[in-house]
Amino acid sequence: MKNILVIGATGQIGSELTMKLRGIYGNDHVVAGYIVGAEPKGELKESGPAEICDVTDASAIERVVTKYSIDAIYNLAALLSVVAEHKPLLAWKIGIDGLLNVLEVARQHQCAVFTPSSIGSFGPETPRDHTPQDTVQRPRTIYGVSKVTTELLSDYYHNKYGVDTRSVRFPGLISNVTPPGGGTTDYAVDIYYSAVRGEKFVCPIGAGTYMDMMYMPDALHACVQLMEADPERLIHRNGFNIASMSFDPEGIFAAIKKYKPDFEMEYKVDPLKQSIADSWPNSLEDICARQEWDWKPTYDLDSMTKDMLEKLAARLK
Ligand code: SER
Repeated sequence: MKNILVIGATGQIGSELTMKLRGIYGNDHVVAGYIVGAEPKGELKESGPAEICDVTDASAIERVVTKYSIDAIYNLAALLSVVAEHKPLLAWKIGIDGLLNVLEVARQHQCAVFTPSSIGSFGPETPRDHTPQDTVQRPRTIYGVSKVTTELLSDYYHNKYGVDTRSVRFPGLISNVTPPGGGTTDYAVDIYYSAVRGEKFVCPIGAGTYMDMMYMPDALHACVQLMEADPERLIHRNGFNIASMSFDPEGIFAAIKKYKPDFEMEYKVDPLKQSIADSWPNSLEDICARQEWDWKPTYDLDSMTKDMLEKLAARLK
């Protein structure tokens, strides 16, 4: 990869991934694609090129790809699961019409494409524990439907046209930089903000609800490592199960209490979030990612908690 376009560069993943890619490939070689109203700021703005690049506008994508001789696109534009349930048509427009725009430009300009899938691509009939790589995918949310379609379309463009498409199924991502917006797993980020602010946390997900989660540095590493992987070794492409930790609200609360003994939590379960969480697996099995491109996470719940609390305390001071 020489010149990279990140679509959705100011979002939860994009804001950190763009900076990581600039560190690896050089500031001038990574273009931050954004939409009007979500302009890059601070270091993201100052450190390299940025262009308006709405995923729903095929000509805008083509213009940026041509201008910068782009050969790899990280397509991160998406609505998360809860907000997508409120705006299903927009979720489809961004997730699938947008993906088709990206794949067509990639086909014509020989770009590699990374588009995340998710634990949300699974549904209630999927085996819940140690969910295998290849298994039932019958999600009940529009977010999940669009993620399964993302996987299928991406594989189709690879098989039919040879486009180098690759992806992972992300768990809930936890970071201390850009907050997520409208996801089912957001509680696992919000809880750290409450802990650092000294507030009681009101948890929208019930005790005993397990979901896979991951600390952002591991997620960013996964993107880069998969895109750099030897294609000869890839049996799968879209998308790989990856996992690092699985916990329920009691588990993350206990992990925080270890460092903040006075921290308090109460439950006020949100029915929509709970029903989505109940339809997702408890924990994924990621043996294929480990075998095909040497995936290995660094953080567990305790090391992530320590780092989150330290970083957020410094930032919110
Ligand atoms: N974090 C996403 C969500 O909760 C799942 O991939 O919607």
